[in-house]
Amino acid sequence: MIVVTGATGTVGSKVVVGLRERGQAVRALVRAGSEGPAEWDEAVERVAADFIDPDSLDMALAGADTVYLLVAVHPEMSAHERNVIDAAVRTGRRPRIVLHAAAGIEYRPEGVRFVGTHVAGLDHLKASGLPWTVLGPNGFYQNFLGMAESVKAGTLAVPGGEAAVSYVDARDVAAAAVEVLATDGHEGAVYTLTGPAGLTHGELAEQLAAVAGRPVSYTALAPEQALAGMLGAGWPAWRAEGMVELYGLYAAGQASAVSSDVEKLTGRRPRSFAEFAAEHADVFRD
Ligand SMILES: NC(=O)c1ccc[n+]([C@@H]2O[C@H](COP(=O)([O-])OP(=O)(O)OC[C@H]3O[C@@H](n4cnc5c(N)ncnc54)[C@H](OP(=O)(O)O)[C@@H]3O)[C@@H](O)[C@H]2O)c1
Repeated sequence: MIVVTGATGTVGSKVVVGLRERGQAVRALVRAGSEGPAEWDEAVERVAADFIDPDSLDMALAGADTVYLLVAVHPEMSAHERNVIDAAVRTGRRPRIVLHAAAGIEYRPEGVRFVGTHVAGLDHLKASGLPWTVLGPNGFYQNFLGMAESVKAGTLAVPGGEAAVSYVDARDVAAAAVEVLATDGHEGAVYTLTGPAGLTHGELAEQLAAVAGRPVSYTALAPEQALAGMLGAGWPAWRAEGMVELYGLYAAGQASAVSSDVEKLTGRRPRSFAEFAAEHADVFRD
């Protein structure tokens, strides 16, 4: 039995579908009142649980052989990861934990909370004695869907500096996760999941312009300018500060490396940003 947490989200929902396509027994952790996405088949066992409720996690993980551990970005996300790991230990079955973390986890960057929280989770996982595997995806192409209004107005404005970033399609992240969850031999591995190329934000803007059918220029925001913009748009401070830290890592060129792990795991070249943009052209077109 494979238990999938974060199962209704961007990556988790696709992991559930992919595991069912492989004929795997899947239990999806959903929050109370949620039925999960319509594309899940009836054989997906739904269990209501919350990362902050240990009793519900005990029920969700009972009988698990493998756990896909994906928590949402949240100020308490480290505690959420710890709570799931502790519940896995309490099953007494030593389930394998596949921790969905973030690219860069292996070099432990200082002052980047969206990576640092996962570093803390991995340290807790290693101390638990459970068998583990880590997936470290780079930023998702899908994040650009949230910038569609700005792109339609002709601007991609982020504090990403001039360095390349090897963003990845969340569908390729899910496909790699399915392979790791459904097969053996991944204990102690850290897989870095990237797209097929590193592209600067200027190059990404050009590719968005090509599908939008209008010029899109990249504006490299200063970190404080970006923070003020996000706070002004109503972002919670913890999340806005975390985004600025992450873009700082990007701007320093620390997210530019291209990994072959998606292809090694799935047997397919990861989707390019141009393919993603073309598929979503209607979102970026005015
Ligand atoms: N976005 C990126 O570019 C990127 C890149 C690398 C790594 N990551 C990592 O990827 C993860 C986010 O993945 P995602 O984008 O697929 O997530 P997502 O779409 O935000 O989905 C989060 C999932 O967690 C569930 N959830 C939230 N709070 C919960 C709680 N208290 N108890 C139980 N379930 C809860 C949500 O359920 P509901 O549907 O009920 O809310 C949903 O299923 C984060 O760990 C992040 O660090 C993201």
